[in-house]
This record gives sequence, structure tokens and C-alpha cells, in this order.
Amino acid sequence: MLSRENNELLTRVGPGTPMGNLMRQYWVPALLSTELPRPDSDPVRVLLLGERLIAFRDTAGKVGLLPHNCPHRGASLFFGRNEEHGLRCVYHGWKFDVSGRCVDMPNEPPESNFKDKVRARAYPCVEAAGIVWAYMGPRSEPPPMPGFEWLGAPDEEQDVSAAQVECNWLQTLEGDVDTSHFGFLHVGHAKPEDAPEDSFLQYVIEDRAPRYKVLDTDFGVMYGAYRPIRSHADSLYWRIAHFMFPFYTMVGVGVLGDKVSVAARVPMDDTHTLVMLSRLKRNYTSSKADGLGITQRTFDGRRFLPTTADWYGRFREEPGLRNDFFIDRELQRSGASYTGIDGVPVEDRAVTESMGPILDRTVEHLGSADTMVIRVRRRLMAAVRALDEKGVVPPGVDHPLVYQQRSGGVVLPKDADWVEATEHLRRAGVDHADLNPSTAGGG
Ligand code: FES
Ligand SMILES: [Fe+2]
Repeated sequence: MLSRENNELLTRVGPGTPMGNLMRQYWVPALLSTELPRPDSDPVRVLLLGERLIAFRDTAGKVGLLPHNCPHRGASLFFGRNEEHGLRCVYHGWKFDVSGRCVDMPNEPPESNFKDKVRARAYPCVEAAGIVWAYMGPRSEPPPMPGFEWLGAPDEEQDVSAAQVECNWLQTLEGDVDTSHFGFLHVGHAKPEDAPEDSFLQYVIEDRAPRYKVLDTDFGVMYGAYRPIRSHADSLYWRIAHFMFPFYTMVGVGVLGDKVSVAARVPMDDTHTLVMLSRLKRNYTSSKADGLGITQRTFDGRRFLPTTADWYGRFREEPGLRNDFFIDRELQRSGASYTGIDGVPVEDRAVTESMGPILDRTVEHLGSADTMVIRVRRRLMAAVRALDEKGVVPPGVDHPLVYQQRSGGVVLPKDADWVEATEHLRRAGVDHADLNPSTAGGG
């Protein structure tokens, strides 16, 4: 439970809000590179941290991110002409380059130097791993990019996707660090024998009430959720996963040491979130034959609505609150699905969006399974206040290597120290040839 004041503190991200200021300390994934497919292609409306922006790719292929209102008299640059190294406002022809410089002002006399005095506030952009990243913060020299392992992987290894969630960023993120929902929302209908023998998925189904350990780290918070294994009385199955400042998660599915995958829960505004999921292709195939089709239900057959140019027109899926996510009550009764909703990400979105645009956290009841949710909120509140009151730079901004982490599941002897015993497997950039990805079994 949170006070109304703290709930506001955590969920509001617009310009000038304390959480908005915290997020603006970091590079922010703004859009996919494929949304600006070619030099001089169509400008795109981008809603980011509550700001209305126009993204464009100039003649040299560089990306610009400008405020949507033209600095002259506010016409939208969305209607601009993207030509010859700049975006030209169609109202009076003022033209801006990717750095926000006004390079032409054709409705003023040629002797006027007014154009040298006008600038659009352009946010610096870089492209990496199929994502356009923007720096919207106060520094004249932006901080280093986060040192995620996948940012350095070759292009052909990258896989990045995006989906819009129609609610506040924090409730989407809290679903990632709440491992106990997996045993219900996604596999609540399954029996242990439905999963591959001795797989992590089987262990999850055997015991749906994991215990938690949480630990503050230099990148955010790490948890280990553990449970006994019926067939190995001397071992425990651990799911180890991370929250990373300001809005990243690495979840506990897959095999620790093998899996490279990060989700960014990027606020478009206070009530819409763009989830960008980056993974390496080598992690695809690990659990195709899990008996419950978790992998297929996660990645195959997602139905997106056609992209439109409006502020909310990007990466929307067809199932939504407006159609109750196409819930099939017969399927729900049949024992073949816990929810009757098709697809793991759709199940996640259904419960998360059903909480309302911004969850009222003054009326919830948190149990021991919410230990990680509580710790993440505390950590965020402490960092927001430290920045707001004392100007303390939040975790990771100037230390890109703290993002060099991996997450996933592992079986450890009962008496092992989970932090020490997993230190090597949690380290990014390490090749573990001996790991068997199929042990995950989708869970
Ligand atoms: S409003 Fe853009 S040039 Fe006048
Ligand atoms: Fe989920």
C-alpha cells in the first residue's frame, strides 16, 4: 500500500515532476529505428515522458527529435517537409536541422539574422540495437549509454520488438518483478506432468508459492525467488531477476547464464507505456517443446492494429479492454487455459490494464509474494527524493557497466548462498557452453 502522495510521486513522469526528472537523467529508448525507415522518410509523432515530439530521419540518415510545435508560432512540425538535411515547417517555411538549429527562415528579409537567434529544443539521439535513444536531461554533455550486453551484439543477433500498454508504466513494470503470477495467470491450468520432466516449468507448477530474497544493488534491485523441488529434496529452484534503473527489467524465465533479454517500460505519458523487448536470437528456441506452448504463446501470432500517425497509434494490439481481450469463457472452463485469453503478453496486458490507467495503490493489500514489488518502489522513491532534494545523481547514470547482468533460473544445493553461488552466471558477456537451455521448459 502507498499513500496517495507517494503513488503520485512514482507514477507522474511529465516535465518538471520528480519521477520525470529522474528518468530524464538517463538515455531513454524513444522509438524503433524501423519507424524511420529511410533518409527523408515521413516524420513520426512520438509521445515520450508526456512530451509531444516529432522524430525524423534527415538526408544523411541522422535522427532528429524536435518539439511538435514549431518555435515560430506553434504549427505542428508533423506536417513538415523532410528535405535536404532538415525539417521545414509548412506554415512559413522555417527549417530546422537535427540539432534544432534554424537553417532557413525564408519569410524574413535576406539581411535579417533572426534565424541565428532561434532554436528548436532538439534532444540528442543515438541509434543502437535497432532503437533510437534520446537524452532529454539537463546536461549539455549527455551521460554514457547504459552498458547492456545486447547493445554490443552484432545486428543479425538482435531482436527488438515493441508493444503499447494502455496504462501507467509502473504497473506494467511491477508485473515483471512479481514472479508468483506466472504460476496462475499463464499456467494456472497445468499439472506438473504437463511440463517436461525435470524442467523449471515443472518446478513452478509443483509449487506456486515461491519464497523471496531481495537485495539492493548498484543497478537497482535483484531478487531470488526459490521453491523446493519434489524430485530433488536436497535442492532448490531459484528464479533470479532484476529491476534496473530507471525502468528496465530482466525477468526470471529461461536459464541463468544463457539468457540475454531486457524489457524497457518506457512511459509515453502517465497512462500509456511503450514496452520495448530486446533479446538475442540465440535464446529463441530453448523452449519450443515445453508441452504447454509457453514460447509459442509468447511470441507467435501477436495481432497488431495498423499503425496510425496519431499520438497513440504505434504498436497497438488488437486484443484490448474494448473487446475484453477476446476472452473465451469456454476455454477458461475447459482446463486448457487458466484465463481463456490467448497469448502470454495479452494475459499480462489484460490484468495490468484492468487495474485502471493509474492503479490506486492506497487500497491494495500486499503479501509476502509482493516483497520485490515493495522493494522496487522503495528504491525508486529514495532515488527520486535524493535527486529532488539533494541533487544526487541516480544509480547507473554515470556507471554504464552496472547493467552488465543476466537473469534466469538455476537449481542450487539447499544450503548454497544464492548470491555467491550465482555470481559467475549472472555476469554478462560470459560464454557458458555447459548450460542446457532446454531445462527451462518454457517456465
Ligand atoms: S509556425 Fe512554423 S514557420 Fe511559422
Ligand atoms: Fe506475466
